[in-house]
Amino acid sequence: MSARRIAASVLLLATLTGCSESVRAPAAAPRPAERPVAGAAGLGDPVVPGDGNGGYDVQHYDLDLRVTPRGRPSLAATATITADATQALSRFDLDLTGLTVSKVTVDGAPAAYSRVPDKLVVTPARPIARGRFTVAVVYSGTPAAVDDRQLGRYGWIRTGDGTFVGAEPDAAHTWFPGNDHPQDKATFGFRVTVPKGLTAVANGQLTGTAASGRTTTYTWRARDPMATYLAMVDVGRFKVRSGRTPGGIPIYVAVDPAVDPAGLNSFYDTTAKVTDAWAKLFGPYPFESTGGVVDDAPVQFALETQTKPEYVASMAAVPTVIAHELSHQWFGDSVSVHQWGDIWLNEGFATYAEWLWGEREGSGDTPQREFDGRYAQQHSADLWNIAPAAPGRSALFGRSVYERGAMTLQALRRKVGDQHFFAILRAWVAEHRYGDATTPQFVALAQRISGMDLRHLFQVWLYDRGRPVNW
Ligand code: ARG
Ligand code: ZN
Repeated sequence: MSARRIAASVLLLATLTGCSESVRAPAAAPRPAERPVAGAAGLGDPVVPGDGNGGYDVQHYDLDLRVTPRGRPSLAATATITADATQALSRFDLDLTGLTVSKVTVDGAPAAYSRVPDKLVVTPARPIARGRFTVAVVYSGTPAAVDDRQLGRYGWIRTGDGTFVGAEPDAAHTWFPGNDHPQDKATFGFRVTVPKGLTAVANGQLTGTAASGRTTTYTWRARDPMATYLAMVDVGRFKVRSGRTPGGIPIYVAVDPAVDPAGLNSFYDTTAKVTDAWAKLFGPYPFESTGGVVDDAPVQFALETQTKPEYVASMAAVPTVIAHELSHQWFGDSVSVHQWGDIWLNEGFATYAEWLWGEREGSGDTPQREFDGRYAQQHSADLWNIAPAAPGRSALFGRSVYERGAMTLQALRRKVGDQHFFAILRAWVAEHRYGDATTPQFVALAQRISGMDLRHLFQVWLYDRGRPVNW
């Protein structure tokens, strides 16, 4: 029964008895029992078919991880997930690839579970009512890195002295069960136990270090909403430096001295300087802390893991790469893609931030010259045959998304002027903070703030294949 009908019948009863004071509303509004059904498997994002699940909304992941980098298995863990059921659930799915599950409980009671490819299907002893519930999964194994023909090697990666995690776009579920899609953000807690002598770094802030016999346990808490692919745990021998940026933001950096013996202080300083500069330009820093990790993982990318981007040493040495990854804290991490096809909203913006940093530090050209140089590449198939707003999985991290995406922003800036352009960027991060957003929402915002009809500009730059000729 709806609240409105209950109120109406109470009023009627009060009128009939002629004594409103003594009439009490029914103690518990009797809701017709909702028939429990299975939560949907998959959210329908074509770039990551099957990923994400319906029927619940995760609020918090508590990951208790025992990491033995050289061990087999290298991971023994309990993931405790607090979620809100958005419907009555007879069963539901968690994304999970590989690994061995030994126990699942729902609200403390043992639950039945089964494995289908890339999913853990959980059937609780009794159906779950709408609202808060907790599922705990005990599991172990050695997470398998993803070797993708198009996206390269990513996921849980072994390093010389530990492990590294770079999960974008879809490898979070190779190391913990969850709702692995940016549409479902949550806060995280990490309790990471590692062999003595190694350090475990994760997102957010360090809240405890406890030595016990042959192991050390590091506790990290990430209290701002985070997409699953941005979660990371990096284990190894690190030199660490922490403090506050000149602007007052807590900062923590960890550098593997084997790969970058002299890098700690310059990496710390550049990270602090860029964080403060972007906070002035894009709006307040969205998270509780900033920082980064430099490690020797055999990967071809740096990654904007929330509060602490990860770098291989060759990339950490390039300030524009640091400028790129830190700009993602606003564009990508705080404001996330609604679907992966919107990835230019992350990478086009972060590439534009590289151009801004290069101009500012005098190490690069002006954004207009960056634009001109690429526009002159008339026959570049990478730029012109792929539309930034429709890259598909194969070109997700390709030149069109990054460079033509950034060119789109420069075209927009020239069209609307500097004042409107930076107002659009700031409104974008303010209006979608901690959420997700789509390309049409960006187009609508740009039109609203500039007061101009920009449909043609965005059509030729983002959606059409071919080199734009006028806009
Ligand atoms: N977002 C990262 C960056 O721009 C790139 C991640 C690439 N991921 C991958 N699986 N290749 O900096
Ligand atoms: Zn990027």
